[in-house]
Amino acid sequence: MELYLDTANLEQIKEVAEMGIIRGVTTNPSLLAKEDPTVDFKQRIIEIHRLVGGHVSVEVISTDKDGMVREAEEIIEWFPEATIKIPMIPQGLAAVKELSARGIPTNVTLIFSATQAIAAQQAGASYVSIFLGRLDDIAYDGIAVLNDICEIWDVQGYDSLIIAASIRNPLHIVESARAGADIATVPYNVLMQSLKNPLTDIGLEKFIKDYDRYLTERQKSMLI
Ligand code: E4P
Repeated sequence: MELYLDTANLEQIKEVAEMGIIRGVTTNPSLLAKEDPTVDFKQRIIEIHRLVGGHVSVEVISTDKDGMVREAEEIIEWFPEATIKIPMIPQGLAAVKELSARGIPTNVTLIFSATQAIAAQQAGASYVSIFLGRLDDIAYDGIAVLNDICEIWDVQGYDSLIIAASIRNPLHIVESARAGADIATVPYNVLMQSLKNPLTDIGLEKFIKDYDRYLTERQKSMLI
């Protein structure tokens, strides 16, 4: 399973990209709205791609098929590497059908059930994004839905890549990998939290202290 970062924040992307652990970035209008409005949207997306180099999903905001296709064409014109993020609505599926016929990669977002995922796959989606956290928020088991979808993909041999999205905690990352998701797109805070373990910090502190003690003892022994 690959890790993507779910953010539009350039500092966060730069820091995590330097660690070499992410293969892409997913953005959405809400994530972009959190960032400095003086930075041009196109400039931000191009900078994200410069920092990470892999997948970058850019979401359309139209809700009619022609509007979505038009937006996708515009995005591809200034950023040919874009994957176009399309909402899981009937008009979105029609847009995915048209874009996929033209070889433009799409990521169908806001998927909350296996039936929605199957429809997106049939329309030609390159990626299907399953929202775990938002399902958990309404007392549905997001991981159970993801497990179903991964099992269906295995049985049917479907080829859309499965993105575990709306990740809220490190356990979501583990369970997504266990389910067989191709990608987990993770917010910065959750990703950083998932790297930490108190035993690592305690262990490192002890290594440093022990080595200092050894150096002091060695210096003392050389004075004798
Ligand atoms: C997916 O691509 C979305 O950007 C994202 O995972 C939404 O997550 P949220 O439920 O934390 O907003």
